[in-house]
Amino acid sequence: MLIAEIIRQKRDGAELSPQEISAMVAGISDNSASEGQVAAFAMAVFFQGMTRAEATNLTCEMRDSGDVFNWSDLPGPVVDKHSTGGVGDNVSLMLAPIVAACGGYVPMISGRGLGHTGGTLDKMEAIPGYTVTPDNDLFAKVVAEVGCAVIGQTANLAPADKRFYGIRDVTATVESIPLITASILSKKLSAGLQSLVMDVKFGNGAFMSSFDEAEKLARSITGVARAANLPCHALLTDMNQPLASAAGNAVEVRNAVEFLTGAHRDPRLELVTVALSGEMLLTAGLYSDRKHAVAAAQAALDTGAAAEKFGQMVTALGGPSDLIERMDQILPSAKLTLAVEAPEAGQISAISTREIGLAVVELGGGRRRADDIVNPSVGLTGLLDVGVSVSKGDPIAMIHADDQTSAETAKAQVLAAYTFGGAVEVEAPVRLIVDS
Ligand code: URA
Repeated sequence: MLIAEIIRQKRDGAELSPQEISAMVAGISDNSASEGQVAAFAMAVFFQGMTRAEATNLTCEMRDSGDVFNWSDLPGPVVDKHSTGGVGDNVSLMLAPIVAACGGYVPMISGRGLGHTGGTLDKMEAIPGYTVTPDNDLFAKVVAEVGCAVIGQTANLAPADKRFYGIRDVTATVESIPLITASILSKKLSAGLQSLVMDVKFGNGAFMSSFDEAEKLARSITGVARAANLPCHALLTDMNQPLASAAGNAVEVRNAVEFLTGAHRDPRLELVTVALSGEMLLTAGLYSDRKHAVAAAQAALDTGAAAEKFGQMVTALGGPSDLIERMDQILPSAKLTLAVEAPEAGQISAISTREIGLAVVELGGGRRRADDIVNPSVGLTGLLDVGVSVSKGDPIAMIHADDQTSAETAKAQVLAAYTFGGAVEVEAPVRLIVDS
């Protein structure tokens, strides 16, 4: 089957057959489709879209381009969550142990941060000794014994997506709903999940800023997942402000540990984390109604069971056994701190979340390019929420930096990201649950 013919069909708006999609994915995997052809295919899909059947075939072919984990030996359901990416979004660090404490198994294969969004792997790597690249045997052992393991993508997991995504990233074709759907789900299906919860973000810090586009993506993912026999629910959550009051790597781990122990919980973060955890328990079949599932998630948190699981996971993957008790001594901290003060009195009426994420990048805590090395210790803490009233000079955030120049630049960025005005209505952090 000629790759050029497949591209032509899609360019002209035809529906591709399962055989044509299979040939295209084979070409992507074995490099017999050139970079130019893969890019042209991506652009044709970008403009012409895909039917549900095409997107499902693309997903399954990309899943089968590499290893597929099998967890059939585990005594409980295997479930995961995937977020489309945010700022101050450390939900995974609490959610995986919450679900494990409730009887689910969470083999969480996460990504690194790029651009203004943070990455779970970078956060976990801020813990000295923690390995995000265990071999498959250790990964399986930790999932079986602890109930959760947060690690990075193994080399042979959906390799077709790896090449395809790399080409989409440099050809302005990432923002295609069927391609995003197939990319995310191929990786999740390769991880051998039995159910999935999607956290689709909308708002000024999200990949899909408009609520309607985020909803379209959520419906595409849940629909294709169902067609691929993966029960999947999606929550649409607000990214018009950072979720945690911290953004960075070690600072978000610290925030997560405080959250797990109950020392400090950011209210919107708690609502989103408990809602997503409850939804996982529901999709996994551990509870048959949402109310009880959410209550079980909250109880795992409040009893300290989730904190214990988190500690066990960190130790099992090479981290310190006393992180929870001694995190201030163990986690790296930046050389200097600088307060960002409110320039005027008033109510915080808006936050440009993307700018907050870019301030973390400026400090060295994120990446401009995929091969940049992140500094685990820098970041922002004490970020105030939309709706909070301040007096002139009150701290609205604290910068953690390794040098004065980046601290000053980040301070200016944070100041520019905050708007002070009159009364505002704060949106509920979880706006819609899609379980079609
Ligand atoms: N994240 C992915 O894994 N793939 C996409 O296409 C977009 C976001």
